[in-house]
Amino acid sequence: MQLRTLIVALLALSAPAAAVAAEPIQPVPAAKVKNAGMVELGKKLYFDPRLSKSGFISCNSCHNLSMGGTDNLKTSIGHNWQEGPINSPTVLNSSMNLAQFWDGRAKDLKAQAGGPIANPGEMAFTHELAVDMLNSIPAYKAEFKSVFGKDAANIDMVTDAIAAFEETLVTPDSRFDKWLKGDKKAISKTELEGYQLFKESGCTACHYGPAVGGNSFQTMGVVAKYDTKNKAEGLGGLTGKDVDRMKFKVPTLRNVEMTYPYFHDGEADTLEKAVDIMGKLQLGRTYSADEIAKIVAFLKTLTGKQPDFKLPILPPSTNDTPKPKPFG
Ligand code: HEC
Ligand code: HEC
Repeated sequence: MQLRTLIVALLALSAPAAAVAAEPIQPVPAAKVKNAGMVELGKKLYFDPRLSKSGFISCNSCHNLSMGGTDNLKTSIGHNWQEGPINSPTVLNSSMNLAQFWDGRAKDLKAQAGGPIANPGEMAFTHELAVDMLNSIPAYKAEFKSVFGKDAANIDMVTDAIAAFEETLVTPDSRFDKWLKGDKKAISKTELEGYQLFKESGCTACHYGPAVGGNSFQTMGVVAKYDTKNKAEGLGGLTGKDVDRMKFKVPTLRNVEMTYPYFHDGEADTLEKAVDIMGKLQLGRTYSADEIAKIVAFLKTLTGKQPDFKLPILPPSTNDTPKPKPFG
C-alpha cells in the first residue's frame, strides 16, 4: 500500500508541470548559461564604448537594454552623428532568429558582432584597434585569459563573448506566455479577442514560434506595394534577384510595445499604425479601430521579463590605451 502511494506520488511528480497549449506561438524558454565567465566578459564588451573610434558608442547605444534592446529612433545615429540607413532591431531574443540583420546577411550572432565595430557608419573602429585597446588593459587581458586560456585577446574571442552574452538576452514569462502555460487569468478578455483576431486573420502565417517572428523572410507589401523612401531592398539587395526585392526578415513581436518605431524604415511610429499597415499590405484586410485596439492590446501582452543584471564596471584604460577620437 505504502509502495503504491509512493509510486503514485512519483508519477505525479514526473508529469509535466503544465501542458503548453497547442498554439502557433510558444513560450520563450529561459536562458541557459553555458559559460558564465564568457557571458560576464561579453556583457562588459557590450557596454564598452572604447570599442568605437569615438570612445562614445557601445552596442548599448543603439541596442539600449533599458529600452527593449533598441534606440527607439527611426534610424540609428552612428559615428560623427551620421544618419543610419535603417531601423535598429532589438537584440532581445535575437538568438532565435534564423539569421541576423533585416536582410539576414549575418548567419548568427557571432558573425554579426564583428560588423558594427568596423562599420564606418556605426562604431567606425577597426578590429585591430579594438583588440589593441583590450590588450592594453591588464584587467581585460586577465579576463580573456581566464575565459579563453590565451595570453592575448583577438577578435574571434571578442565576438564569441558578445554572442554568449546576447544569448542570455531573452524575455520569458510574459503575460501571454503565462496564458499559453495554462493561466487563463493572465490575459484579459479584450487581449484574448485580440489574439484570436491576430490568429484567425492570418498574422501567424509570418509571426509565429517562440519569438513571434524571426523564422522567415517575407515580402513587405504582399497585397499592395509598400511606399517608402528608404533605399533598403532586403534580401533582394543581397541576392540581386527580383523575387527577393523587399523581402525582410519577419521581425520578432516579443516586447514590441517597447521597440517602436516600427518597420525597417522606422516609419510607423505607433503600434496602431503598424497593425493597420500589416492588415492592409500583408492580408488585404482593413481593420476597424476597435479591431486594431484589440490586436494592439494582445501585442502588449508579449512584453516579457527584461534582462536584469548589475551594470558592469569596466576596467580603466592605461597610459598605453589608444585615445578616443570623438570628432572627425
Ligand atoms: C550605431 C548604431 C548601432 C551600434 C553601435 C550597434 N548596432 Fe547592432 N544594429 C544596428 C542597426 C541599424 C541594425 C540593423 C542593420 C541591418 O539590418 O542592416 C543592427 C543589427 C543588429 C543585430 C541583428 C538583430 C536582428 O534581429 O537582425 C544584432 C544582434 C546587433 N545589431 C547587435 C549589435 C552588437 C553586439 C553591437 C556592438 C558590437 C551593435 N549591434 C552595435 C545599429 C547598431
Ligand atoms: C506575409 C507575412 C506577414 C504577415 C501575414 C504579417 N506580417 Fe507583420 N511583418 C512582416 C514583415 C516582413 C515585417 C517587416 C516589414 C518591414 O520592416 O519592412 C513585419 C512587421 C510587423 C510589425 C513591426 C515590427 C517591428 O519591430 O518593426 C508588426 C507590429 C507586425 N508586423 C504585426 C503584424 C500583424 C498584427 C499582422 C496581422 C494583421 C501581421 N504583422 C501580418 C510579415 C508579415
